[in-house]
Amino acid sequence: MSEKFYLTTAIDYVNGAPHIGHAYEKILSDVIIRHKRQLTDKAYMLTGTDEHGIKIQKTAALKGITPKELCDENFSKFEEAWRQLEISYDQIIRTTDEKHKKVVKQIFKKLYENGDIYKHSYKGLYCAGCECFLNSKDLTQDGLCPNHLKKPEEITEENYFFKLTKYKDKIADYIKSHPDFIQPSIRVNEILNQLENIEDISVSRTRNSVQWGIEVEGDDSQTIYVWIDALSNYITAIGYDIENPSAQFKELWPCDVHVIGKDIIKFHAVYWSAILMSLGLPLAHSIFAHGWITIDQSKMSKSLGNVIAPKDILQAFNLEKPDAFRYYMASAALIGKDGNYSDDDFKEKVNADLANNMGNLLNRTLNMLVKYFDGEIKQEFITEKTSKIAIMADNTKNQIIECFNKFEIAEAANLIVNFADTVNKYVTETAPWSLAKEGKMRECAQVLYTVLEAMRYIGIMLYPYCPNIAESILLQLNETPDFKYENLEWGKIKPGKITEKEKIKPVFLRLDSEFAENKKKA
Ligand code: ME8
Ligand code: MG
Repeated sequence: MSEKFYLTTAIDYVNGAPHIGHAYEKILSDVIIRHKRQLTDKAYMLTGTDEHGIKIQKTAALKGITPKELCDENFSKFEEAWRQLEISYDQIIRTTDEKHKKVVKQIFKKLYENGDIYKHSYKGLYCAGCECFLNSKDLTQDGLCPNHLKKPEEITEENYFFKLTKYKDKIADYIKSHPDFIQPSIRVNEILNQLENIEDISVSRTRNSVQWGIEVEGDDSQTIYVWIDALSNYITAIGYDIENPSAQFKELWPCDVHVIGKDIIKFHAVYWSAILMSLGLPLAHSIFAHGWITIDQSKMSKSLGNVIAPKDILQAFNLEKPDAFRYYMASAALIGKDGNYSDDDFKEKVNADLANNMGNLLNRTLNMLVKYFDGEIKQEFITEKTSKIAIMADNTKNQIIECFNKFEIAEAANLIVNFADTVNKYVTETAPWSLAKEGKMRECAQVLYTVLEAMRYIGIMLYPYCPNIAESILLQLNETPDFKYENLEWGKIKPGKITEKEKIKPVFLRLDSEFAENKKKA
């Protein structure tokens, strides 16, 4: 398969440092893109930061620095976090990039020329946290923004407006006729309901109220609304230009998936769709809306003081590699559901799945191979493609591909664990140590081969979640760490000596294992 796959993430506000909610989305996205790279050479991942708007302007003012200084400071924290978590994006865009700003101005101008933007005097309630106007009926009983629990600001201004109402029916039709567009599909009705009551939206602010924004060309009293600026990143990053779009843009657009949180579906499914329709561009194939990450079952917030940064977790558990955390986050919630982080649960889950279930299986089997066969595979050890475990290995592979096509990331991880469980049971049932004792050496060898081959599958299938552990698994098997799915074919471990006593090492240490404890002390 050589189809292209273009994935984008939401671009994060840089008014603070990244927390594990941001990390959740970037990990899910990275797991998807690494999986796609196992199938195609043309997978491209874009992430970035959203750097304009009143929220950034206010935070910078409070800190007594310029907005750009704030952006630079926090951008490097995001970059550093993604490096630590091994997020393998192809590009990270900042909305303060000159190239982006230039094209956003063009886009705004084009919408205006299309007759979709007009000037209008307006009074509304603006939430800086959401960076949008709220309807009074959406507020809490006390008149607060339901997301940020803050009183929105009453604003009276003359702004530019975008004719969202013009596209209302077209968008509704599109959503109904494209069942893959909004995923998971339980979100579809919510969006269709919101569409019913949609009004034209303000797409600029006066420079007096919002200085930190891209200026409207030909009207320097207005700056472009931060969401128009932000959403455009998905096309500006890959070289969109009204006159002369790049070859990369032509290759990658339409996007295959916008990965975003459930709180910003409306901006993507409605606002962004309308902008694309006005520009005459096709819409993304899918919008995948993930749920929220809570901490010990409560919402993460600065006021509660429970905001956790990904690096805090890596540090607390003394993790040099991000694999365990990536695995835990990626399996934290079934598609679209909210997930929770707790230290205890993290430790339990990764110890159970990675150390006990998969790690021990490999370790025990390699040790038996050394003990009974001096670490050597012989031709007659190789088992049939039609054996029970071989069939399950291939089924698991195919089901994983299906899951990823539906963005079921945790579900796919569960399939791997389930397969490893079955292989563990198979070892218990066949008891290769007894077979050896009884002198049934060929049977014993075939059991070991089956398990090692299954472990090779597990290594490759686990790769998107745990790239380092996956590499260790393949190296322990004396295989080249090539994670392409075309290698998922039964019987690829070839005859020859694959290991010896000194080479066998655990691929994943239990958190709080003796080793980790000793390192902590040192
Ligand atoms: O919304 N759990 O930026 P943002 C899971 N700049 N996901 C979470 C989360 C949590 N606790 N907290 C945030 C914005 N997110 C805009 C996006 S896109 C053109 C512009 C997710 O920094 C959130 O749902 O508030 C969003 O997808 C992303 O992190 C950035 O959130
Ligand atoms: Mg937010």
